[in-house]
Amino acid sequence: LQPKLLLGKRVLITAGPTFERIDAVRGITNTSSGKMGYAIAKAAYEAGADVVLVSGETALPTPIGSRRINVQSAQQMQQAVNAEVDQADIFIGVAAVADYYVLNPSEQKIKKDAHILTLELAPNPDILAGITARPNAPFCVGFAAESENLLEYAEAKRLRKKLPLLVANLVQTAMGADHNEVILLDDHGETRLHSAPKIDIARKLMAHIARLYPSIQQD
Ligand code: C5P
Repeated sequence: LQPKLLLGKRVLITAGPTFERIDAVRGITNTSSGKMGYAIAKAAYEAGADVVLVSGETALPTPIGSRRINVQSAQQMQQAVNAEVDQADIFIGVAAVADYYVLNPSEQKIKKDAHILTLELAPNPDILAGITARPNAPFCVGFAAESENLLEYAEAKRLRKKLPLLVANLVQTAMGADHNEVILLDDHGETRLHSAPKIDIARKLMAHIARLYPSIQQD
């Protein structure tokens, strides 16, 4: 049985990929099974938290104890998060948010012909950075999946997004797998969590958040 380290805390989690519509049948998305975010939702519930899971499209069942809000695009995800964030003590952004959306998606299926088709892409909002910039922001945790220079890129991202805690992993080891291997980066340095099932990583992450959380609040 897990200790109830986050008893009574409200935890808001984003998970899965976002999907940006090109036309009636096509879209742009990221590779993300949602498994890590869903494992975190389960672990947060085990730790005693009230859990809201804002999720892009995944093939996974809703984790026990989570209130799940389904979204498709990054902008829908941001709207759902903004509607919930004032009630949250802790925000964990695990979702693989598409960096761009299609400016003028077509209502109808675009028919194929011999011409070059050009899509105009505009940048999506950074949901996590938008939250850390708020005056009464919850304790924010970010994820960084990188394919190279993991520590350097991840720590830069942590500082840029003003995050007390960032979870870094290599995309090659994490994507779609049931195991993960991560490095937790915070103001005290790095903590390595060796390869383990995603639910074990999620439980250790909850313990780490619980250790950091009170001191951050007292600052
Ligand atoms: O995409 P990037 O590697 O910058 O993602 C780092 C963190 O920021 C992740 O926690 C991700 O969920 C979050 N993010 C976000 N909104 C975006 C892009 C990323 O919340 N548009």
